[in-house]
Amino acid sequence: RVPRLYRDKERLPAMHILKSRPWNLPESRVTPEALVFNRRQAMALGAGMLAAGPAMAQQAGLPPAMRNTRYVPGRAITAEREVTTYNNFYEFGSHKTISPTAQRMPMRPWTVKVEGMVEAPREYGIEDLLARMPLEERVYRLRCVEAWAMVVPWTGFPLSALLAEVKPLSSARYVVFQTATLPSVMPGLRQTWYPWPYTEGCTIAEAANELSFMVVGAYGKLLPPQNGGPIRFHQPWKYGFKAGKSIVTIRLTDQRPVSFWEKLQSQEYGFWANVNPAVPHPRWSQAQERMLGTGESVPTQIFNGYGDFVADLYTGLQGERLWA
Ligand code: MTE
Repeated sequence: RVPRLYRDKERLPAMHILKSRPWNLPESRVTPEALVFNRRQAMALGAGMLAAGPAMAQQAGLPPAMRNTRYVPGRAITAEREVTTYNNFYEFGSHKTISPTAQRMPMRPWTVKVEGMVEAPREYGIEDLLARMPLEERVYRLRCVEAWAMVVPWTGFPLSALLAEVKPLSSARYVVFQTATLPSVMPGLRQTWYPWPYTEGCTIAEAANELSFMVVGAYGKLLPPQNGGPIRFHQPWKYGFKAGKSIVTIRLTDQRPVSFWEKLQSQEYGFWANVNPAVPHPRWSQAQERMLGTGESVPTQIFNGYGDFVADLYTGLQGERLWA
């Protein structure tokens, strides 16, 4: 039996032709964001009261956060509705329109365990993280291995701020992110050929890099479930699959993790997964990327344009497959 994933990925080149998709409107036909937002907010509130009443009412908003202008994306910010309606989140289904299904995920209460090779293991409630971590907004690019890309104002905090609290032992070499498995709301978990739970990881040095960001918001609001709410990871110089969504455990270890996609197809998806236009995916070129929303095709940059921040991490690693 050929897993559905392989068939989907093989269809990808065709999926890139988005002209016929109903949500791929020219800017001129897009409803002004303020109108969409107000209407959506009203609808979400109405639905929320019925579905989750008190839990919704207790959910505090995203604390205000200043934009950090050190990270210049060099491209226009992608329209919010594109970012929140075209997603990869296989727990909710192996297609891009998982957003309606993802709304069923209960995002409160939510706890994140930080454990393993640390001096002070801890369990954090999400509200605790929102209140205590140094929140800032960063406009980062995201480049999916499937050759689409977006630019998003994320709110979050550096992973290093969290690690400083738990104090990694000197023997710890990797950080592993495990994401939520909630069978009652995630139909994708019934696709048992996938190696759930979705697991990703990086080295301690990569985790300590200033770009490594724990994301709790987007577009000035709490991170919606389809984008990995209430908390996800993002390293903008790597392909997007490294960015685990809806994280429940962060574990420090001396063992290199084998991540979800690597378990499934190690010839195509490896541990490092740094963006490189010169190294094609076995089934498609990585030279160009298609911007969500505008459909514009632009050249891909090495390390997704973040080489000044991260290239040093990879000196002396020539024996490693750094790019896929
Ligand atoms: N995290 C989980 N838990 N499940 C997933 O299927 N998909 C990854 C990543 N994180 C995925 C995930 C992939 S392939 C990409 S490109 C990004 O999430 C997409 O993030 P976005 O939907 O916010 O654009």
